[in-house]
Amino acid sequence: MAVKISASILNADYLNLQREIESVIGSTDWIHVDVMDGHFVPNLTFGWKMVSSIRKRFSNFLDVHIMVEPADRFVETFCNAKPDLLTFHIEATHHAHRLAEYIKSKGIKVGISLNPATPIELLKGIMDYVDLILIMSVNPGFGGQKFIEGSIERVKEVAEMREKRNLNFLIEIDGGISPDNARKVVEAGVDVLVCGSYIFESEDRKNALNTLRGVADGKTE
Ligand code: DX5
Ligand code: ZN
Repeated sequence: MAVKISASILNADYLNLQREIESVIGSTDWIHVDVMDGHFVPNLTFGWKMVSSIRKRFSNFLDVHIMVEPADRFVETFCNAKPDLLTFHIEATHHAHRLAEYIKSKGIKVGISLNPATPIELLKGIMDYVDLILIMSVNPGFGGQKFIEGSIERVKEVAEMREKRNLNFLIEIDGGISPDNARKVVEAGVDVLVCGSYIFESEDRKNALNTLRGVADGKTE
């Protein structure tokens, strides 16, 4: 399966968000939207209304990553904003299975995310029920942070668990992704690359996305 790219709008210009999103349409596969609560992570972004507005304007695959605690309190409203995929953090709920089943019952794909220091073993009880596992390769909260190298081993572990159990969830990685590490993470088992500042800090977003894709697919170095 070809690698997918999910362009993270976290570091985009919010006053021009429509144009910012348009600048990546056609070159990105998914649009990644980070919701932060200033409690689970030390930063604030926006709420469900923004997600709903993006949904109404764009028909592209909307990949929503909620960094809110407790996740339980917000899952229903974010489902109402109709993303294609809703990912919550395993650290932010005592009821991951219940939330996963709820999201699926709304016809939305469900993802579960792990912070860099959270043991991979915690996935054992939930991996059969999700469409995607999101491995954080930075501590969530901000764009532009340095990729944590140990994330590659974590991706390999998750990919092994997937193979052993004959499951077909996607593996997504988020944080510090650029052409410098894209190929390495894909070789470890990643299916979806979230990428924020590398794209949005480039003058020519399409060119940045094409470069990233070429490297991820192993076509260019
Ligand atoms: C970080 C967010 C990421 C962020 C990635 O907490 O979850 O999605 O936008 O940005 P870069 O690619 O700049 O690390
Ligand atoms: Zn994210």
